[in-house]
Amino acid sequence: MSIPIEMTALLLVFILILSLPEMSNAQQTPSASSRPPGAVNYDEAKVPPYTLPDPLTLADGTKVTDAQMWWQRRRPEILRLFEQHVYGRAPGRPKELRFETRSVDPKALGGKATRKEITIHFSSQRDGPKMDLLLYLPNGAPKPVPAFLGLNFYGNHAIHPDPGITLSRQWMRNNPELGITENRATEASRGADARSWAVERILARGYALATAYYGDLDPDFHDGFQNGVHPLFYRKGQTAPDPDEWGAIGAWAWGLSRAMDYLETDVDIDRRRVAVMGHSRLGKTALWAGAQDQRFALVISNNSGCGGAALSRRWFGETVARINTAFPHWFCGNFKQYNDKEAELPVDQHCLLALIAPRPVYIASAEEDLWADPRGEFLSALHASPVYRLLGTDGLAAQEMPPVNQPIMSTIGYHIRTGKHAVTDYDWERFMDFADRHLKKP
Ligand code: GCU
Repeated sequence: MSIPIEMTALLLVFILILSLPEMSNAQQTPSASSRPPGAVNYDEAKVPPYTLPDPLTLADGTKVTDAQMWWQRRRPEILRLFEQHVYGRAPGRPKELRFETRSVDPKALGGKATRKEITIHFSSQRDGPKMDLLLYLPNGAPKPVPAFLGLNFYGNHAIHPDPGITLSRQWMRNNPELGITENRATEASRGADARSWAVERILARGYALATAYYGDLDPDFHDGFQNGVHPLFYRKGQTAPDPDEWGAIGAWAWGLSRAMDYLETDVDIDRRRVAVMGHSRLGKTALWAGAQDQRFALVISNNSGCGGAALSRRWFGETVARINTAFPHWFCGNFKQYNDKEAELPVDQHCLLALIAPRPVYIASAEEDLWADPRGEFLSALHASPVYRLLGTDGLAAQEMPPVNQPIMSTIGYHIRTGKHAVTDYDWERFMDFADRHLKKP
C-alpha cells in the first residue's frame, strides 16, 4: 500500500514539530563536552549558553514568593548545598576558645593608632592550634568604631613596616622577594605586602583594621589535612575530612568567624559594623564566611574569581576542573565531581551572594584579571539581585557591566578598575565609600 504524498508531508511536519523542543533544549544546555577537558577560554564569543539555578525556586520546584519562604526554606537549602557540594561543612565555635591579649600599644604609628595583638586559642592546650590577630584602632575616632576584618597572605608583620608587630613564625611559601626563606618569614618581610593594606587610609577614615595570617588556620599546601585546625575536630579514628567536610577555604572562613568572636568582646569595636574583606583565594573565603555568619554586617570580595564571585557555569578563565587540580585542598572532596561538569552543580556562585542578602556585598573586579572572569563576577551580582529585592533592598542598580573605574554603590556594589589582579588603594577607597554609605550608625 502506498502512502499519499500529502500524508507523507504531514507526517514529516509532525515529526519536525515533535523534535523542535529537543533541538532548542540541546542549544540551551551547556555543552561541556564540546570543550576539551581542562581547557581555558578567554574568548567571550566562545562562552556556551548555560542555565543558572534559580535562587528563588526550591529544589522541589516551588517558587519562593516572600521573605519568610526565603528565610525558612530556600536560604537554609542553599546553605546546605554549598556545604555539601562546594566548601564542606565546618564545626562551630569550640568550647575551649580563649582570647589572650598579648600586647597593647596606645601610641602606635606615630600616635595615630592603638595596636593590639590578641592570640585566639582554639583548644585548651597552649601549643594547640591558634591564630594571632592584629588590630589597629584609630585613636582620633569616637569609640566604638566600625572595622574591616580580613585574612592576610604573608603574616601580620607584612601588612605594615611597624616594627612593633610580632613576626610570624608559621610556615610560609618561599618568596625571597618578600624575605621568606626556608618557609619562614624574616625581618626583611616586614611591610613586604604593605601595598595591599591601606592601613593609614583606613585609620584616617575612622575604621579599625583587624587581620590574621591565613596559614595560622591552615597552611596553604596539600598535606592531607594533617596540619592546621582540621585535626582538632576529627572524630576518633578520622584522619581526613569526609567528602562533605571543610577544606582549606572552609577552615580560613571558620577562622574569620573566630576573629569575630573576639571582636564582639572588644568594647572599642562596634560589633554591628564589622565588614569582612578578602582578596583572591581569601576573597572566596570572605564570601563564604559572610554567607554563613550573619554577624558580618558587610562583605567584600576583591578579585575572588572561580569559587568566589565568578559564575562557575561560564566557561571563561579559571574553571572548576583547573582549580580542583591546582588546589586540591581548597574545596570539599565532593566539589571534584563537578570538574568539567559545572552544569550539574545544584548551585552557582550568584546563590552564594544571595546568602548574604540583605546585607550589603561589594564585588571588585580588575580589567586585566581575566583568570578571575570579571564579567562572571558581575553576572553573579546581577543574578543575586532578585533575592536582595525580595528582601526589600535595591539589589544591584545596574543591568549592564559599568565602564572601568565607575563603581556601583547600591546594596550590591560592584566595580571593575583598570589594572591587574591586586588590592590597591583605589579598591580600599571604594570599600570605604561603600561602608560609609551602608554601615550607618544604628
Ligand atoms: C590562583 C588561583 C585563583 C586564586 C589566586 C589567588 O590564581 O587559580 O583561584 O584566586 O591564585 O588566590 O591569588
